[in-house]
Amino acid sequence: MDCSSNNMSDSVQTNGIDSNFNMDLSASASRVIPKGGMLYGEYLHVDRLLSCQEPVTAQTNNEVHDEHLFIITHQAYELWFKQIIHEIDSVRLIMNRRVSDVDEANMLIITSRLNRVVLILKLLVDQVTILETMTPLDFMEFRNFLSPASGFQSVQFRLIENKLGVKNELRTNYGKSHYLKIFENPKVIDLIRLSEQEPSLCELLQQWLERTPGLEKNEFNFWEKYKTVVMELLERNRTEADKETDEQQKTLLLDDWKRKSELFDSIFDVNKHNALMARGDRRFTHKALQGALMVSLYRDEPRFNQPFHILMLLMDIDSLITKWRYNHVEMVLRMIGAHQFGTGGSSGYHYLRSTLSDRYKVFVDLFNLSTFLIPRNCIPPLTPRMKKRLSVMEDIGENMNDSEQIVD
Ligand code: HEM
Repeated sequence: MDCSSNNMSDSVQTNGIDSNFNMDLSASASRVIPKGGMLYGEYLHVDRLLSCQEPVTAQTNNEVHDEHLFIITHQAYELWFKQIIHEIDSVRLIMNRRVSDVDEANMLIITSRLNRVVLILKLLVDQVTILETMTPLDFMEFRNFLSPASGFQSVQFRLIENKLGVKNELRTNYGKSHYLKIFENPKVIDLIRLSEQEPSLCELLQQWLERTPGLEKNEFNFWEKYKTVVMELLERNRTEADKETDEQQKTLLLDDWKRKSELFDSIFDVNKHNALMARGDRRFTHKALQGALMVSLYRDEPRFNQPFHILMLLMDIDSLITKWRYNHVEMVLRMIGAHQFGTGGSSGYHYLRSTLSDRYKVFVDLFNLSTFLIPRNCIPPLTPRMKKRLSVMEDIGENMNDSEQIVD
């Protein structure tokens, strides 16, 4: 490409924008600032941003080189946490609107923003490796200066957890006290409390799933149809086990049948489901679980494409946070070992290990859905009316006039 030619800048479309914005790569032109315009550094407050790295060891005669990396890494995390909160808040806002507002356009917005969160989290999971280039001995040189500062005091991390829907009662007690105890600033405490009280993404998702078209008892009544198919499949298993002549094999088959029957019973019997919810083993309401299962089974229907994608993205978010927790805990083990307390006062490695459990997974029910999937050829066929309802975003059933009604 001939860069000396004027053609390049001539061909740049201004689209009505002030002509001062025309791209001119000559040095003198960089001084031309459009009226009311801003330079890179001003717009991004680069000066402020770059003056925020203040290694504590710089105040001693012995500045530790790697402390700079330690600060930059944490700050980069906090900036990305801020972006994640921005995206999650916007998705919560859309999902908190009335049913009819969650239309196709909004679905695309939700999907693309959740996808963005997924990509950021992937970056954050990998970012741990950069800090791991610091050796434990290097860290030891400045660790004592940090006390009692700890990632445990990251307000934004707690906001992310709460806004997604980590349950307070399922948290590991930190030094036998509530996780909020560590915070002293009343404004921060209020902010975190608010994030506990506002509807989390998990709660909003459930409300949305409860409205899944096809769950209505007087319409398609998915749950009854699904239950019938499952009962038939279990009955078939039982018959096969009964026919088995090899006693050892028969016992195995019967055990398998019993285990499966109990599992399915735990979703068909609402009391059993609620008992599991009370124990924290399940988070979704009974109806939301039905909706999630229906979306997963009929995901090929146009109206369920985006919802299914959303469910997948939420699982990605959950697993990536768990992966981050895992990478972080491994790094902690490498840096301070398993027997040192954290600078924040927790048992360190052992406390962090406990946060890897399912209790910290928000969308655990989505992961467990696979247990209740049935073979494709057994999925209850859609009635013509239901097929049509799932072919478009809008709930046509509500808008059709009588002459257009399709009889099931
Ligand atoms: C040398 C590197 C690091 C070490 C040794 C370390 C150590 C620890 C320890 C021991 C804890 C438990 C709380 C306590 O202090 O008692 C903790 C918690 C935490 N750290 Fe780190 N950390 C490191 C790097 C990071 C980085 C880069 C981040 C990024 C933001 C981070 C974020 C957090 C968060 C959010 C928690 C709270 C986790 C929870 O309660 O589930 N840490 N860290």
